[in-house]
Amino acid sequence: MEDAQVQVLIGAQWGDEGKGRVVDVLAEDAQVVVRYQGGANAGHTVVAGGKKYVFHLLPSGMLYPNRLCIIGNGLVVDPEKLREEITGLDPSPESIGTRLVVSGSAHIVMPYHKKLDVLAEARRSRHGEGFAIGTTGRGIGPCYVDKYNRIGIRAEDLVLPDVLAGKLRLNLEEKNPILEKIYGEAPFEFEKLYEDALEWGRFIAPYVGDSMSEIDAAFTSGKKILFEGAQGTLLDVDHGTYPFVTSSSCVTGGCCTGGAISPGRIGRVIGVAKAYCTRVGEGPFPTELKDSTGDLLRKNGAEFGVTTGRPRRCGWLDVVALGYSVKVNGLDSIALTKLDVLSGFDELRVCVAYDIDGKRRDAFPGSAAALGRVTPVYRSFKPWSEDISGCRRVSDLPEAARDYVAFIEESASAKVGLIGVGPGREDTIRIL
Ligand code: IMP
Repeated sequence: MEDAQVQVLIGAQWGDEGKGRVVDVLAEDAQVVVRYQGGANAGHTVVAGGKKYVFHLLPSGMLYPNRLCIIGNGLVVDPEKLREEITGLDPSPESIGTRLVVSGSAHIVMPYHKKLDVLAEARRSRHGEGFAIGTTGRGIGPCYVDKYNRIGIRAEDLVLPDVLAGKLRLNLEEKNPILEKIYGEAPFEFEKLYEDALEWGRFIAPYVGDSMSEIDAAFTSGKKILFEGAQGTLLDVDHGTYPFVTSSSCVTGGCCTGGAISPGRIGRVIGVAKAYCTRVGEGPFPTELKDSTGDLLRKNGAEFGVTTGRPRRCGWLDVVALGYSVKVNGLDSIALTKLDVLSGFDELRVCVAYDIDGKRRDAFPGSAAALGRVTPVYRSFKPWSEDISGCRRVSDLPEAARDYVAFIEESASAKVGLIGVGPGREDTIRIL
């Protein structure tokens, strides 16, 4: 896995695949780590030296002392969260110095985005089943709307008081009537918001830079670069289960625009997939288990959202969806996480095809409505009871676990290059 100069790591399912821990392992061989989409809706957990860190915005590579970490232009940055994260990592933000670059073109999540996100979600819920998305309430959708509407406030604007004042006035002129007239809420006061934004600008100023030039210079000088995706393929705004998706491009292609790398420079794409499936929020999930087996997966896998604390919906692995992810992203390999969670189950099942309206389908359907009508076709696997957390080579795994992994490779048409057998850095079997 470590020989390509530019590697992209993406979520191959519905997010929460354990990308943080895989990035943390791969970052050992990289000099630059870049986040390129999403925002503080993400929650990447890394356990290092027995301590647990949760990153919402910072690239997971921050835990290595000499890595250059970049927040790319494709992100939407909540400045309060960024400050919390930087100061939580190190009591003196100055000591991070030039190790962190925030693209001047990254958009800023403003308080009105978060407010509108929550209000819009409540409004959709009132329309009955099939409308709510179950967003994280972090202002992600409304901030991307402003980006594409070309009225967004970018990181570079926070450090230019006059530009900031003008853009803020323009935005409040539109947001306040929506808040007051559509939602019956209090408007935002210009003065207070402006003062807060100037304060964020003073904090963020040392980090604001040109991410494209930094990445280009790193590439030209032969440095290894790792792009860290957030969320997952099935939450991608184009290729996911729309409208039950996030508002950014979570697939490999998103890193070319949001991370400023040309496609020709990408050497390897790794998709992170859990050994089973989870989903938070609304939307179709064919293999969801609403029974005691699902509860056991949730308990053993500690499947509760790190950003919102919500219990995750749990179900068997779905290789139809995984095969789709391999194709959409051009995956070179799969990093399979949480295999240890499956130890001790009485039965193991994998969804190998879909039955939609009485017809068997081997391909993932493009529409969320069709996906909602799927009856999964399962294949059963021999379970194993051994604790596998101490395994460091494939040959250490019980035969049943090896068979399970081999089946995933064969059915998804991609090699498994890494297996996670526990939460720590060391609990990893590296194959490729
Ligand atoms: P938003 O990104 O907050 O707009 O939420 C849209 C959908 O994506 C919701 O179903 C969220 O639960 C889901 N989502 C957003 N970020 C993550 C993540 O990091 N992991 C898993 N699901 C996520």
